[in-house]
Parts: sequence; C-alpha cells; structure tokens
Amino acid sequence: MSERGAQGSRPAGTDLREVFGLEGRVAVVTGAASGIGRSIAEVFAAAGASVVLGDRDASGAEQAAAAIRATGGRAVAQSVDVSRREEVEALVARATRELGGLDVLANVAGIPLDHRLEDISEKDFDRILGVNLKGTLYGCQAAIPAMAARGGGSIINVSSGAIDLPRPIYGPYAITKAGVAQLTATLSTEVGDRGIRVNAIAPGATITAFTQRHLRRPDGSIDQVAYDGFVEAMQGMSPLGLVGEPVDQAWLVLFLASDASRFCTGQIWRANGGSTFGR
Ligand SMILES: NC(=O)c1ccc[n+]([C@@H]2O[C@H](COP(=O)([O-])OP(=O)(O)OC[C@H]3O[C@@H](n4cnc5c(N)ncnc54)[C@H](O)[C@@H]3O)[C@@H](O)[C@H]2O)c1
Repeated sequence: MSERGAQGSRPAGTDLREVFGLEGRVAVVTGAASGIGRSIAEVFAAAGASVVLGDRDASGAEQAAAAIRATGGRAVAQSVDVSRREEVEALVARATRELGGLDVLANVAGIPLDHRLEDISEKDFDRILGVNLKGTLYGCQAAIPAMAARGGGSIINVSSGAIDLPRPIYGPYAITKAGVAQLTATLSTEVGDRGIRVNAIAPGATITAFTQRHLRRPDGSIDQVAYDGFVEAMQGMSPLGLVGEPVDQAWLVLFLASDASRFCTGQIWRANGGSTFGR
C-alpha cells in the first residue's frame, strides 16, 4: 500500500504503473456477478488488487471470481444482499479478516424499477431505496473504519445518467441515484480528514443485463430487432455515436480507485459518450 497522510497518497511523478495501478491493494466490489460490477472486479484484479466480489447472485459471483483466478488474479466471492446491513458488514469483514484490510470499495449493486412516481406503491419504493440508496450507505459505513485503520482509501459509488435526464417511469430509480450523488458529495466532506476519498460515477447507457431488460421476449431470449433499435437510439444520443460497454465504466473506476485521482473527491464522473448534451 502507498504512503498516505495529511497530504494524501503518493505524489505524482513516480512510475505510472504504480500511480494508476492497485498492486498490493484490497478491494470490495458489490454487484460483481454481472455487467459493470464484474468488469470493475476484473479490471481491479488485472491492476494488481485482491478482490472480494459480492452479489446476491452467489453462483454468478463465484463464477466471476473463478474466472479472475484462472487468469492469475486474486479473488474470492461472497453472497450479499446490499439492502441488509449485516450482510454488507460481513462482506467488508471478509476483506479485513482474510485479505488484511480494505483500500477500495466499489458500491455497484443496483436494480431498476420502471414506474411512474404518481402511483408507485410504498412497498416498491422501499425496495428500490433499500437496494440502491441504503445499500450504498451501508457499504460506505462499513468501509470507513476499515479504511481509516489503513490511513485512507477510495470509495466509488454508482449513480446514473438518469439524474441528468428526467423521464416518466424512471423517477423512482432516478431519485435513488440522485440520493447516491448527494450521499457521495456530503460523505466526502465528512471523511476526507481520514484520507478517504468518495466519488461517484453516473454511467450513460451501457450494455448489460440491466439495459437488456427492455429487449427480452417473455421467454428470456433477446429480441434482436429491439436490441439493434435500442443500440441505435443510444448511439444517436451521443456526439461520439457510441453506446457504452461495461469496461468503459471500469476504466474510469480504476482511475478513481488509484492514486492517480488522489486530488479528486466528492465528484460525479460521467462516462456517457457525451449523451447529456445530445447529438
Ligand atoms: N447499464 C447501464 O446503462 C447503467 C446506467 C447507469 C447506471 N447503472 C448502474 O450500474 C450498476 C450496475 O448495473 P449493470 O448495468 O451492471 O446491471 P447488471 O444487472 O448487469 O448488474 C447488477 C448486479 O447487481 C446485483 N444486485 C442486484 N441487487 C442486489 C442486491 N440487493 N444485493 C447484491 N447484489 C445485487 C445483480 O445480481 C447483478 O449482478 C447499477 O447500480 C445500475 O443502476 C447502469
């Protein structure tokens, strides 16, 4: 682990592999069985970190960890429902007990909920708040003492491009992700004195199971015509003409996890192909 202290982590100008890498670090990633979380876990491991992959899909998380180990990385998997505080604490405890500490936490687990605000039920609203907002808070709360004990660390939360473009039916989801953005900004002011940085990403449309929910037939297969139409529509929103892949988010998260971002905290980072501004 690099030296931290009042002036934060190691100053720039040293070996770039060290500055941008995670050699010797311990990272926890939630939502790591699939999509963006899985890609983040793979990139962290490739950058030298030991990674704990948490997901409520225990077999998916184990498969992802096994794939990392098969390529020479260090990874273990653990079942977690992030809406349950004690399970999130157990996930972080696994890192400190088995891998010796915690340097990086990526709170990635999240769910969609397509519903208008005007008639959403209390039960549905509680469910999405529980996973997307409270789950992120529980992760941060569990990580802070573990990171403080190491002299600092980096927390990366996952907000969404949905906070920039209000649309009917995305309201409940966008509210949770706006909450994640505010949680990130405020928490960064609470924990900076312990060397802990807190940032969030707000991904633009990124092809994963999450986005594919709109494009599946009732039997679960992908409707290729709908899929191609979706990709074209998303590309049409980007001045670059691009739709995101999970690794586009993972590379940004690697920067935020590494010492290269030692001067960055409390910010919302947007890998979205410029889609906020349209084409
Ligand atoms: N894909 C996009 O376009 C996009 C855009 C903006 C934000 N996001 C956010 O990125 C994050 C990752 O999404 P993704 O696109 O990779 O989707 P995904 O569905 O591929 O992955 C989400 C993962 O989270 C896990 N998960 C869900 N609820 C959980 C819970 N309660 N406890 C533990 N694990 C849980 C799922 O099992 C899954 O493995 C989410 O927070 C999502 O809101 C995605």
